[in-house]
Amino acid sequence: MIVGEAPGAEEDARGEPFVGQAGRLLDNMLAAIGRSRQVDAREPVFIANVLKCRPPGNRNPQPEEVAACEPFLLRQIELLRPQLVLVMGRFAAQSLLHTDAPISALRGRVHRLRVGGREVPAIVSYHPAYLLRNLADKAKAWADLCLALDVARGDGG
Ligand code: URA
Repeated sequence: MIVGEAPGAEEDARGEPFVGQAGRLLDNMLAAIGRSRQVDAREPVFIANVLKCRPPGNRNPQPEEVAACEPFLLRQIELLRPQLVLVMGRFAAQSLLHTDAPISALRGRVHRLRVGGREVPAIVSYHPAYLLRNLADKAKAWADLCLALDVARGDGG
């Protein structure tokens, strides 16, 4: 399962997460590790957002909005019972890990979420929209994806 930030204009119009440019990058990243969001894929990846509706003018989510949407995100995780959650970007980290630490300080290790009486491993990485602007960090995102795959397979922590 992947958790992003909030729907943008295109996502709002289509009612689907990550369908714009950042979504295309995300789909390519998933394809590179043999995964897909297609529901009929062998091990489909479910994509959710922290905020369930688009912040006005695409501004950053406010802390009270993140908090208001948190129960819905936690319930999604509880119902889906994912092998792993890939936490993309600082608002997803803020919601799921309750931290304001930068992504650089959170990535590269396995975090544990306690959701619905179950422990779910979580890996933190950069948000795809950030990667579109910061190409140099794509190599780190690739390392994060490889770690996530190892952990999801049960041999990475
Ligand atoms: N960015 C996100 O975080 N989520 C989307 O659905 C689209 C862009």
